[in-house]
Amino acid sequence: MSKTTMTPVKFLKESLRNLKTVGTITRSSKYVCQRMIRPIDFSKAINVIELGAGDGVITRHILNKMSADSKLFVFEVNDSFVKRLDLIKDPRLHVVHASAELMEEKLKELGVEEVDYIISALPFVVFPDDLANKIVEKSFDMLKMGGTYIQIHYSLMLKKMYARIFGNVHVRFVPLNIPPAFILVSNKTEAA
Ligand SMILES: C[S@@+](CC[C@H](N)C(=O)[O-])C[C@H]1O[C@@H](n2cnc3c(N)ncnc32)[C@H](O)[C@@H]1O
Repeated sequence: MSKTTMTPVKFLKESLRNLKTVGTITRSSKYVCQRMIRPIDFSKAINVIELGAGDGVITRHILNKMSADSKLFVFEVNDSFVKRLDLIKDPRLHVVHASAELMEEKLKELGVEEVDYIISALPFVVFPDDLANKIVEKSFDMLKMGGTYIQIHYSLMLKKMYARIFGNVHVRFVPLNIPPAFILVSNKTEAA
């Protein structure tokens, strides 16, 4: 555990207080984090958006691999988690204390029109359907052609949403997580 992440007990308390937005009571395991960043080509300068960063467990995995000229924009709504994220002192990291649906406006303010990857741990199954759809559609719009969207879920209930918006979705199962997780990966292609 990094110095800036919460203890598992603090994370649990924060999650229980905000179950409707956090959607789980444990942070992602290192196996999930490794699997989520596997589709990313870190050999290039890239722009990445992370949605629902929590206290930054996936954020740190991305920063550890990212080149010096890459950028990571994380969106988080929870005040306590944002305070933790702000403790990560890294010039490549931009913490945005706002809802994911505002990604387009917030990135425009930072002079960014499109990104290479979007990696999301947003608990869409507890979101209203129209909000989940809106965020995934915005993600599609924000990605460069050839860009990749990566999402963690604990069931395959919403797989159809990615298939509809991106025209493709590939699923990987990660048993070593509480609860066991699915990583869904969709690419933005001309065919969509
Ligand atoms: C399941 S937790 C994931 C935390 C961490 N990334 C991990 O993998 O352990 C989901 C996170 O999404 C955040 N969240 C929920 N709704 C959001 C929204 N509309 N925009 C941005 N973040 C949101 C929650 O506050 C929570 O930190």
